[in-house]
Amino acid sequence: MGIFRSQVEEAAAYIGGKLTLQPKIALILGTGLGGIVDAMEQASVFPYGDIPHYPVSTVPSHEGRLVCGTWAGKPVLVMQGRFHLYEGYTARQISFPIRVLRALGIETLILSNAAGGLNPQFHAGDLMLITDHINLTGHNPLRGPNVDAWGPRFPDMTEPYHRGLGELTVCTALSERIPLHRGVYVGVMGPNLETAAETRFLRAMGADAVGMSTVMEVITAVHAGLRVLGISVITNVNLPDAYQPAPLEEIIATAEKAGSRLVHLLSKVLVEI
Ligand code: HPA
Repeated sequence: MGIFRSQVEEAAAYIGGKLTLQPKIALILGTGLGGIVDAMEQASVFPYGDIPHYPVSTVPSHEGRLVCGTWAGKPVLVMQGRFHLYEGYTARQISFPIRVLRALGIETLILSNAAGGLNPQFHAGDLMLITDHINLTGHNPLRGPNVDAWGPRFPDMTEPYHRGLGELTVCTALSERIPLHRGVYVGVMGPNLETAAETRFLRAMGADAVGMSTVMEVITAVHAGLRVLGISVITNVNLPDAYQPAPLEEIIATAEKAGSRLVHLLSKVLVEI
């Protein structure tokens, strides 16, 4: 754990030494949302491969770079491309960038993801504010010795997704006339999509959407004391009694199409943070 901690410090020192802005907000962008980076006034770009000890993304739809710049008038750090358990990364490797962001002075973390809808009232292309999650991955980034300087051994999980940020996002969506569901995200390991029986089970346990990212990052962020806002783009809807395949191309195409609405919503939320 001492090695992990010094690796985080080395990565943060490398990035921090080159930053010209002091962002307090970071964004981790899921499938199809890389476009935010194009709308940014970019100040510094760090390919993951250049950052000491940083994991490198293997998914084609995820570009791997950390971008610092101004968006919606705010200095932000954007992780374009993230790490998933199904790629073979450990939970602790996935937590690495969050620790680095915290060490760089980030206080608020905004995450987006592509998710399968489980709530039958959802449609492909809808947006969902994540109000809570279920960690069904069987993994935990906090397993092993605790770094007390980073956070408590047994972090509280009564409100992993910040209530104030969620309310601000709901109000902003209303005033921008962007439909926004609220719901529970269940994180699974993947990489296979769910069977019909698994889908029925996930819905019955109280989830509204299912995906293969986010929960490792949010657990780490809560441990680190960050305020978290999470939004899912519903790329497909899984109804166990009328089950249809959800091809990856369609998932990516829907994420990209709905992504522009999410980008607009986030830009308005950012102004108010
Ligand atoms: N299941 C799991 N992850 C996903 C899905 C899904 O249906 N769609 C997008 N990510």
